[in-house]
Amino acid sequence: MTDQSSNQMWGGRFAAGPDAIMEAINASIGFDKRMAAQDIAGSRAHAAMLAATGVITDNDAEAIREGLLTVLSEIEGGTFQFSTALEDIHMNVEARLKEIIGEPAGRLHTGRSRNDQVATDFKLWVRDQLDAAESGLLALIKALLSQAEAGADWVMPGFTHLQTAQPVTWGHHMMAYVEMFGRDLSRVRDARARMNESPLGAAALAGTSFPIDREMTAKALGFDRPAANSLDAVSDRDFALEFLSVASISAVHLSRFAEELVIWSSAQFRFVTLSDRFSTGSSIMPQKKNPDAAELIRAKVGRIFGANTALMMVMKGLPLAYSKDMQEDKEQVFDAADNWMLALAAMEGMVKDMTGNRESLAAAAGSGFSTATDLADWLVRVLKVPFRDAHHVTGTLVAMAESRGCDLPDLSLADMQGVHEGITEDIFTVLGVENSVNSRMSYGGTAPAQVRAQIVRWQEFLAG
Ligand code: ARG
Repeated sequence: MTDQSSNQMWGGRFAAGPDAIMEAINASIGFDKRMAAQDIAGSRAHAAMLAATGVITDNDAEAIREGLLTVLSEIEGGTFQFSTALEDIHMNVEARLKEIIGEPAGRLHTGRSRNDQVATDFKLWVRDQLDAAESGLLALIKALLSQAEAGADWVMPGFTHLQTAQPVTWGHHMMAYVEMFGRDLSRVRDARARMNESPLGAAALAGTSFPIDREMTAKALGFDRPAANSLDAVSDRDFALEFLSVASISAVHLSRFAEELVIWSSAQFRFVTLSDRFSTGSSIMPQKKNPDAAELIRAKVGRIFGANTALMMVMKGLPLAYSKDMQEDKEQVFDAADNWMLALAAMEGMVKDMTGNRESLAAAAGSGFSTATDLADWLVRVLKVPFRDAHHVTGTLVAMAESRGCDLPDLSLADMQGVHEGITEDIFTVLGVENSVNSRMSYGGTAPAQVRAQIVRWQEFLAG
């Protein structure tokens, strides 16, 4: 649409309206309408402050307040007519306010600019998302804790290089992810505390000559304090970058777990059974049950980290203060936030519903010479053999078992004594998988007692 009349909000010095392409590249209303509630909350706080400081009358402030509530209900009810000619959410709301209440609407923008307005709206929006992420992470952590509690002593293979390494417990493996998502939670809380300063009242860039009260608007909007430098306040997007960084790291964690679920649910592993509610079928192969949710979670990190990279590149090299480049911040954050929340919820649902297959896990735990380290440790502990030599003796025994196609506990005492004469019957006590995990009692180790202690620590943390 080419609008030949000049812009009603800022067109005083313009004889003609923008070209259609200019309007298309300039307008943000297509996406920033998602910040309508935040925009109206910011305007209400600003208008109340203008009245309290005597900049506008109480009557005008009341008209603005009621008018803004009407605008909000129109937007929430879906009857609001968004206009591209009005560029963005800020001017769409103000123009509609003018239609509803007339002249007082024109006083709302006293002592502020769209620059501090958009920074405020966007911060409020990102802050809400951090709160949503906190809830999502807490729910996921709780689901993992339930799995860990149920299978605190279930044995399974632990891997390095995805090769069988040493037996671990199911609970221990679940708790590893609790630690990861717990760090995400703490990053979310840090980011929220650091970002919670109000840009409102920084105006275009230099502050304002009106006697505004920035403490008052900061408090009304739940900020801890006003941002201390007006140039920084309007040009800072660290809060968005930090949100995307936190989301990226969390998405990395989600993708790692998703990958394990894809592997574990395969016919070759059978470590877990995913519920029907979180699986899909194949249109051609009737036997298939596909872990699509896990695969999509695994993929989400791509777009979330992509958003992080994109906004870093938008912000790099921008001179102070506001530049229109910064309008490119929102779509990245919106998309990353939507997908992070979805991935958290899907992972929580999958974890809640999945069944660890105790027998398959135990069978796999005993194969692949997983207790070779226990054998070497026994030689060190009981026979006082230096660890390097014990490693060599054990390696010889592993090669012997491998050539016979059996596991370590299947070798006879005579076979073992042929490799090291000091070995006694006692060695067989450490070759059992259960004994192996029970012996790993070092702090943070895989022994069920250690795992249960960590579960209790997390439960206490969650209970606050
Ligand atoms: N839509 C703009 C944005 O998202 C609002 C701020 C516009 N400010 C300006 N001086 N043109 O960044």
